[in-house]
Amino acid sequence: MEFNRQKLELALEERQNYTNIFSSIHIFDTVSSTNTTAWELLKAGIKPGFAVIATTQTSGRGQWGREWDSPKGGLYLSVALNSHLEVNHGYQLTLASAWGIAQELRDNGISVGIKWPNDLVLDGYKLGGILTETKVKQALITQAVIGVGINWENSTPKTGINLQSWQKNQNNLNFISLEKLTAKIIQGIESGIHCLEREGVDILLSRYVRLLVNIGQKVYVNNNRGTIVGVNPSGSLHVRMESSNSESVTTPYIDLKPGTISLGYRKTS
Ligand code: BTN
Repeated sequence: MEFNRQKLELALEERQNYTNIFSSIHIFDTVSSTNTTAWELLKAGIKPGFAVIATTQTSGRGQWGREWDSPKGGLYLSVALNSHLEVNHGYQLTLASAWGIAQELRDNGISVGIKWPNDLVLDGYKLGGILTETKVKQALITQAVIGVGINWENSTPKTGINLQSWQKNQNNLNFISLEKLTAKIIQGIESGIHCLEREGVDILLSRYVRLLVNIGQKVYVNNNRGTIVGVNPSGSLHVRMESSNSESVTTPYIDLKPGTISLGYRKTS
């Protein structure tokens, strides 16, 4: 996979209604992790408001300390930005990016949904994921790096899907190129952050939840059954529990923090 800077710049110029949060792009062949490179560039004095792209990563990071396998053929992108969010609202950056990217891809005929909290899914399979890292000073987030991995033409585990094979199975021939996809992802993050900053977290969450594939899904918590009904401003899953005891009138809602429950994929083959 060759990444063409000119094509990317052209695709970025074609963006409509964009907010231009990320004005410079740094493209590498191999890095350990684009998130790490973004932190290094910030440390070296590059101003927040840039993107880092790499063809491969040797130590790609996923959520919950997992490794993100990063062979050639995948898209590995990180953006660096300033933030003024409270530390316990940091997850909103992931929710904003997930919504913005999913919406942007949907606007371009790719029917992406969101699997709580940070997965992009297509036809029930994992298309990509988001990992946000933050720098905190006195309980406030000052800088953030949002990393996005997308399966472009790389092979994936059984629960994954890559966009190239999905596109080949579609009848329309209006294929999106890697550079256009990258521009759409950048624009998606920009529009998600813009929504969070200008319209607020409640509006953002209402949009995020509309694309969430888990709404209505049944989950078990301590052997009690519940239904996923929403997501709250700290990124926790809002679940309505079925009362096991008909005399119990205590609040039937509980919130589950990201990382405390795994929802799995609806399709596994
Ligand atoms: C997940 O676990 O689903 C999140 C995966 C995030 C992977 C991306 S690839 C680009 C950026 N660099 C990293 O090391 N991780 C993120």
